[in-house]
Amino acid sequence: MNNVDLEKYFKPDLNQARKRSKKTVEELKFQLDDAHEKVGLGKTYKIDTYGCQGNEADSETMAGILELMGFAKTEEEHQADVIIINTCAIRENAENRIWGELGRLKAYKRQNPNLILGLAGCMAQEENVVERVLKKYQHVDIVFGTHNIHKLPEYIETAMFNKERVIEVFSREGEIIENLPKVRQHHFKAWVNIMFGCDEFCTYCIVPYTRGKERSRSKDEVIAEVKELVKQGYQEVTLLGQNVNAYGKDIKTDDYTFGDLLRDLNETGIERIRFTTSHPHDLDLKTMEAMRDCKHVMPFFHLPVQSGSNPVLKKMNRHYTKESYLKTLNELKETVPGISVTTDIIVGFPGETEEDFMETMDLVEKAQFEGAFTFVFSKREGTPAATFEDSTPEEEKKQRLYMLNDKINAGYLKGNERFVGETVKVLVDGVSKYDDTVLAGYSEHNKLVNFKGDKSLIGKIVSVKITLAKTWFLMGEAL
Ligand code: SAH
Ligand code: SF4
Ligand code: F3S
Repeated sequence: MNNVDLEKYFKPDLNQARKRSKKTVEELKFQLDDAHEKVGLGKTYKIDTYGCQGNEADSETMAGILELMGFAKTEEEHQADVIIINTCAIRENAENRIWGELGRLKAYKRQNPNLILGLAGCMAQEENVVERVLKKYQHVDIVFGTHNIHKLPEYIETAMFNKERVIEVFSREGEIIENLPKVRQHHFKAWVNIMFGCDEFCTYCIVPYTRGKERSRSKDEVIAEVKELVKQGYQEVTLLGQNVNAYGKDIKTDDYTFGDLLRDLNETGIERIRFTTSHPHDLDLKTMEAMRDCKHVMPFFHLPVQSGSNPVLKKMNRHYTKESYLKTLNELKETVPGISVTTDIIVGFPGETEEDFMETMDLVEKAQFEGAFTFVFSKREGTPAATFEDSTPEEEKKQRLYMLNDKINAGYLKGNERFVGETVKVLVDGVSKYDDTVLAGYSEHNKLVNFKGDKSLIGKIVSVKITLAKTWFLMGEAL
């Protein structure tokens, strides 16, 4: 497709995306235009998803919209009439994988010129990405961001029938769109968005720019969605937000916050409630007490700490110290006995010294995490930390990562060992990756459990007696 008039495109602008106003968030309802109902009849789509659970959930919405338009799902690339790549911008290596994939699809599009190729998600919200697509990736037909998934029918129609390239990315705070159709990945566990965006502006992070302002869905919408899932036979929901502990704080008409939501959802009849992710400085006693009192809220908490060094935490704009984090953590462990806690850690943040790193190691020791996602700092253009002085060689950062991972892995094992001899309840996901006579699923504490059993147990909650603990999983026998 040849388009020389670059001005007609709606391109992202990170400066614009940074702005936050006091305007109230608009709530809109999605409805498919009659004209778009049959666009996809006899055609197929494929969506490739990268990044976090937020993106997984968005892909389910895209699938829902495409199926309303008549498209059918395919996993076979060579059969697809529409391919959408839902991208992640969190670290450079995540982006590099996607550029590689786009490069590969260039040759593919030459063989199949009728294919509509779409680029969506967080990378699409970045100026430099869209510029590069415009210059070097002419085979991408549609670029749209995280704020306009509901406009997908229009974009597909334009690309398919007018043979025009569509580039529309909004760098704004965002609305809340309700009534979006979804085709869910699983039949017994579901993602449920409770809020969108992020206002934390951790200095290393691109998310507040790619996802807009923090905005909570109304409790009625969330509760209704969970009740509907119960009716459909779902066993587990995972509540999603970049900072679920801030839920409701943007709605000024009442003081209904995350703890209240947990209590209300506990009454819906859903068997298991999980959530991700939390910010330590918004985690309050009300939430901890709700977890203690609500039997359907799982005893598991992912509480990203990022660093154990106070100067680094300050430069990251995290609003807590090593000491206050540990205090919150202890309060959580006292309130919810036996809870399993995991975290996220970044090593090699600009200016992180050996001494700072040792503070992180010390915190990991004290916190007794039962797992962590660990990362080397990745420079994100447009964020404050991208301009911070960074003189630590990459090799040294990697050494720190290896050292940290050894400690984290010991925590994984210790966290698993405490269940040997115990009976745990496992929601069976499917067969094991390594052995298809073995079932795999997660316990209430979010431990991966493998045991022999019949495939008919998939989607059910089974009592399993744990016989062996390894670093990454538990083995057991169904009772
Ligand atoms: N909202 C979530 C995190 C989303 S991003 C939260 O605050 O917990 C997931 C993780 O990616 C972060 O916790 C952080 O550890 C890591 N991360 C984010 N930006 C990064 C960057 N620029 N370099 C390396 N890791 C990063
Ligand atoms: Fe990024 Fe911080 Fe927001 Fe998490 S809380 S998404 S790390 S800015
Ligand atoms: Fe990636 Fe965007 Fe999620 S940057 S981690 S897909 S919010």
